[in-house]
Amino acid sequence: MQAKIEKISPLSALAIKNIDEQENKPVDFLSFREKLSFANISHPEKRKEWKGARLAIKSALDAINLAYPGFYKDEHGKSYPMDGYGNVSLTHTKGLAAAIFHKEMPVGIDIDYVKEKVVRLGPKFLDPSEIEFLQGDPILYTIAWSAKESIFKCQGRKGISLRQHILLSPFSSDDKVIKGKIHNTDFADHYYSVKVERIDDMIMTYTIW
Ligand SMILES: CC(C)(COP(=O)(O)OP(=O)(O)OC[C@H]1O[C@@H](n2cnc3c(N)ncnc32)[C@H](O)[C@@H]1OP(=O)(O)O)[C@@H](O)C(=O)NCCC(=O)NCCS
Repeated sequence: MQAKIEKISPLSALAIKNIDEQENKPVDFLSFREKLSFANISHPEKRKEWKGARLAIKSALDAINLAYPGFYKDEHGKSYPMDGYGNVSLTHTKGLAAAIFHKEMPVGIDIDYVKEKVVRLGPKFLDPSEIEFLQGDPILYTIAWSAKESIFKCQGRKGISLRQHILLSPFSSDDKVIKGKIHNTDFADHYYSVKVERIDDMIMTYTIW
């Protein structure tokens, strides 16, 4: 997947960065607390991922002409803008970091490589009705995994099981948007639309409104 910056709407944008190309980029826009957090990451790969994701948020915000407010994490690990305006989600995987921002609505984003073993892991994160329509295809399984991770990140609470609480409607490899819901919780059902982008063996999904 190529690095890109995409304005999704006047209120929302996403950016994907190649983390190896970000090493020498300045991060003087980070808040004091973020600079401290960054200084405390010792693992070199984790440092690159963390920095790449923050540079991705910065580019997404630039695309919709918003200043970088600094972000903090809640007790579940979900990031929020320090000025209280807007919603963000981050993901990183081998070589790539991505971020999505929406000024008004919650968002979730995820990137994964297609791997054969995802089919074997299916019963851990899929409902039997989903296993039926995914037909043992590793690409469809990876899309399902990624879409559920995006929905999970969009709502952000721990205690939501991908298998028991997030249910996807049937989809095929041609579908660019798939539907899902969070159900079987103490709260009313929540419905989500998830955009799917696939390039070779890489799947990116993100929630849209
Ligand atoms: C939290 C979780 C979504 C992170 O996903 P991941 O694939 O490990 O990692 P990604 O690179 O895609 O995403 C990492 C980012 O997720 C974000 N994140 C962490 N916890 C989060 C939460 N509760 N809500 C929203 N975003 C969260 C963070 O910003 C993190 O980036 P950072 O550390 O640089 O700040 C994942 O670990 C998880 O808990 N998934 C669902 C739970 C589950 O059921 N898992 C097992 C089923 S078999």
